[in-house]
Amino acid sequence: MAADPAQPTVVVVGSTMIDLVAYTSRIPRSGETLVGDSFLMGFGGKGANQAVMARLFGANVVMVNCLGEDAYGDMTIENFASYGIDTTTLCRVPGASGVATIWVEPDGSNRIIIMPGANHRLTGEYAARSVRHSGNPSVVVGQLEIPQETTAAAFAAGREIEAVTVLNPAPAAELSGELLELSDWLIPNEVEFEMLTGTSAYSDEALMAFARETGTRLAVTMGEQGVALVSPQADAITRVPAPQVDAVDTTGAGDAFVGAFVVGMALGLGERQAAQLGNVCASDSVTRPGTQSSFPSPSECQAFLADVRRRSRQG
Ligand code: RIB
Repeated sequence: MAADPAQPTVVVVGSTMIDLVAYTSRIPRSGETLVGDSFLMGFGGKGANQAVMARLFGANVVMVNCLGEDAYGDMTIENFASYGIDTTTLCRVPGASGVATIWVEPDGSNRIIIMPGANHRLTGEYAARSVRHSGNPSVVVGQLEIPQETTAAAFAAGREIEAVTVLNPAPAAELSGELLELSDWLIPNEVEFEMLTGTSAYSDEALMAFARETGTRLAVTMGEQGVALVSPQADAITRVPAPQVDAVDTTGAGDAFVGAFVVGMALGLGERQAAQLGNVCASDSVTRPGTQSSFPSPSECQAFLADVRRRSRQG
């Protein structure tokens, strides 16, 4: 599909998974077998989810990823194509595609174990070449479900073409100095922030200290508490509240935030407005089960965008 010149281009260099989701009244104890409530198989992976969310807003989205030569890989390519995501930068390798096993409890909270499979076979050379050939992207987005050196190579290529680089450091891991240096934005959730820094995301001083030390802009997502925005130069935090909803499944909410936030910025919204857009998509997504299947529709996305713009004009 040809890119729409009226829309920004977002390149996601990241993961794909097949999500195997068990909804359960509680988590089993060691050695215990439980009968679950229901099961859902769907498309996931933090990178893929963020790519889909961005595409639901109409952005041109290029997905850079490595899939196994298995049925899950075929299904994943079809899924991206169904959204109109550019799949020409997906590579295939012998072996298994990524899989995530997910347990969701009645309050919507989740526990996830990923088996990265082919995701870990994406090389820096391939990723950097894909970014350079992706047109004129506004933003390059990465996560930590592929090797950090691959994301670093992609971000270096993104910087060469003046794209903004956005890292969602999930799942939490110690960041290489190189990747940190190449990231313009970090978007951890509060747990990831605490694991990265050893300090609480609810402390303004801790947030400002981390932004100052790393020289990156920060958007720390805090579930129903919304998001905290921090810049390295700021002496205050901007907190953007989230709409309050009844959660049934929080899986992928952080990805909905990231996808909507980067599109918002690429469309010229201010940081606060982009965060409002991210919050409303994330909150909306937790009211439905599944990951990508829980995301708002294209028409809902346009309504959310119009509402954020209207509120911005009203001050
Ligand atoms: O952020 C949610 C995602 O994490 C799931 O889709 C799962 O695949 C894991 O990557």
